[in-house]
Amino acid sequence: MIKIGIIVGSTRPGRSGESVARWVHEHAVKRGDAHYELVDLKDYDLPHLDEPLAAATGVYEHPHTKRWSDTIAGFDGFVFVTPEYNHSISGVLKTAIDFLFAEWHDKAAGVVGYGVSGGVRAAEHLRQVLGQIKVADVQVAVELLLHADFENFTAFKPGAHQKDMLSKLLDQVVSWSTALRPLRV
Ligand SMILES: Cc1cc2nc3c(=O)[nH]c(=O)nc-3n(C[C@H](O)[C@H](O)[C@H](O)COP(=O)(O)O)c2cc1C
Repeated sequence: MIKIGIIVGSTRPGRSGESVARWVHEHAVKRGDAHYELVDLKDYDLPHLDEPLAAATGVYEHPHTKRWSDTIAGFDGFVFVTPEYNHSISGVLKTAIDFLFAEWHDKAAGVVGYGVSGGVRAAEHLRQVLGQIKVADVQVAVELLLHADFENFTAFKPGAHQKDMLSKLLDQVVSWSTALRPLRV
């Protein structure tokens, strides 16, 4: 079965990212078409990039990098759950991406963004980054608005239509992750 990692892109205390990622996971596991797993950057505690050699070498010195590498290498595709911070993704998510290289290659990903403007600018920024690490980003995106999909801008209560968008996004992530399989062998 295809393995999809749902990456929680914020680590801030009181973050909304955790409830959004749990919502993605809850709906994803009901589909039964792939193995879905939450990957919380908070559990990896990655520092600022501290590897002496470039990730493209695949030579890692630190145990935190090797652990992160093992986790990402084990997935066929991803859903990035990203907040929008100053029109981009969080620093912690960018660093987590930068730590690795080949582990991301020839996999598919969908973006679930959230923020005042639905995380759309962060999502578009992320798509640029994904191209460089050879991740095929799917067309459908989920855009969660703080004023409409969160009560009092904090408690996550997504509109009914968001579930349909998420289903379409997961359809594409699963089909593209499957289609790219021959390239990963
Ligand atoms: C440092 C920072 C910068 C932000 N910049 C933006 C922004 O440029 N555009 C936007 O729509 N929302 C912005 N927001 C609002 C966040 O997207 C929103 O608070 C979101 O819930 C943050 O994710 P988190 O709770 O998982 O950390 C910003 C929030 C923070 C903390």
